[in-house]
Amino acid sequence: METMMQNKISAQKAIELEDKYGAHNYHPLPVVLERGEGVYVWDMDGKQYFDFLSAYSAVNQGHCHPKIVSALVEQAHKLTLTSRAFYNDSLGEYAKFITSYFGFDKVLPMNTGAEGVETALKLARKWAYEKKGVVENEAKIIVCRNNFHGRTISIVSASNDEDARKNFGPFTPGIISVEYNNAEALAELLKDKTVAGFLIEPVQGEAGVVVPEEGYLKKCYDLCKANNVLFIADEIQSGLGRTGKLLACDHDGVHPDILILGKALSGGTYPVSAVLTIDEVMLCIKPGQHGSTYGGNPLACKVSIAALTVLKEEKLSENSERLGKILLNELKKIQAENPELIKLVRGKGLFCAMVIKERNGKNAWDVCIEMMKNGLLAKPTHGDIIRFAPPLVITEEQLMECISIIRKVVKQF
Ligand SMILES: Cc1ncc(COP(=O)(O)O)c(C=O)c1O
Repeated sequence: METMMQNKISAQKAIELEDKYGAHNYHPLPVVLERGEGVYVWDMDGKQYFDFLSAYSAVNQGHCHPKIVSALVEQAHKLTLTSRAFYNDSLGEYAKFITSYFGFDKVLPMNTGAEGVETALKLARKWAYEKKGVVENEAKIIVCRNNFHGRTISIVSASNDEDARKNFGPFTPGIISVEYNNAEALAELLKDKTVAGFLIEPVQGEAGVVVPEEGYLKKCYDLCKANNVLFIADEIQSGLGRTGKLLACDHDGVHPDILILGKALSGGTYPVSAVLTIDEVMLCIKPGQHGSTYGGNPLACKVSIAALTVLKEEKLSENSERLGKILLNELKKIQAENPELIKLVRGKGLFCAMVIKERNGKNAWDVCIEMMKNGLLAKPTHGDIIRFAPPLVITEEQLMECISIIRKVVKQF
C-alpha cells in the first residue's frame, strides 16, 4: 500500500515536472507510462493498458520488439555515429536493403518525419529546375487541404490548420492547396506548368483517418504522370502495414515517384526517416546540398533493417488487413447501438476512427479518459475524433477484449 502511494505521488510528480520545466506544446492524457511490451504499456502504478495509438503509428511492430531492441543494443556497443564525413559499414547494406524492399533506385536517410518531408520538397524543387525546366524560383508544390506533414516552417506553410500556423509566419511561398479526394480539382491545378510535385498522405492520419475513395490515388498518379509532375506519398503514418498493405498506396496499385517513410521504420526505438526515389530525382542533389549529421548513422541503419524484417517475418500487414476488417465492423456495430453519441466510423486496416457528437457537455476527450480508466489508451484528434491504431502485433483475442472495452465505455455516455 505504501509503495502504491509512493508510486502515485511519483506519477503526479512526473506530470508536475513536465509541466513546470517542459514546453507546453502537447496536452497528454493524464497517464504516466514506464514500461511497454507488444500491445501493452504499464503506468507507474503497474496498471496495464492496451496502447491504441502506437505512438502515432511508430510502434507498429509492438513495444520493445526483442529483435529490434537487440539490433539497437548490439550496434550501440559497436558504433553509433560517424557523420557522413566518413563511410560506415552499415549505410550501404541498409541502402541496398531498403531500396529493394520498396522498389526504388536510391534512398536519402534522415531522422524525423518532418525532415523526410522537407527532403522530398527540396528534391521536387531541384528536379523541377534541373530536369523539368521550370524557371528558377517559380516551382510550386501542390498539397491537400487538412494535411498533416509535420511542424517545420515550410511544412506549416502547407497547412490550413490555424493552431499549426497562427503567429508562425511569414510562410514559405510556392505551395498551393487542393481539396483532398477530388481528382478533378487536382487536374485543374496541374494546368500550371510550374508545378513540381503533388504531396499527399494516401490516408490522412491526423485529420482523423480520412480514407479517400477507391481509385482516387491512381487518378492523381495518372494526372501527375500526364503533366510531368512528381507524385510524392507521405506514408510516414499510413505506411508499413498500418492500413493492411505495406503501403497505403498499394491499395490503388500506385508506386509513388517519391516515398517518404518515418515512424515505424524503427519500430518506435529511434527516430529514423527515409526518402526513396529514382535516380533521375535523387541525383539532382549533390554533395554539400542537403544532409543531416545523424542521417544514415549505423545505429539507425541496423534498427531500420530489423524493423522492416519484423514487419515481413510476422506478416504484420496481413494481420492488419484481417483484424482491421473485424475492428471496423465491430465499430460500425457499436455506432449502430449508440447513434446519439457516434456520428461516424471509418478506417482501413488497423487504422480506424470514431467521430463523437458532443453530448451533455461530454466530448471525445471524456470518452478517452473513460477508456483509459478501463485499460485502453487512445487520443482524440481535432476535438471530436478518436483514432484507433493498435500495434499490428495485436491478436484477435486481444482485439476482441479491446472492442468490449470500447463498447462498455461508449454505452456509459
Ligand atoms: C503523415 C505524417 N507526416 C509527417 C509527420 C511528421 O513526423 P515527425 O513527427 O516524426 O516529424 C507525421 C507525424 O505525425 C505524419 O503523420
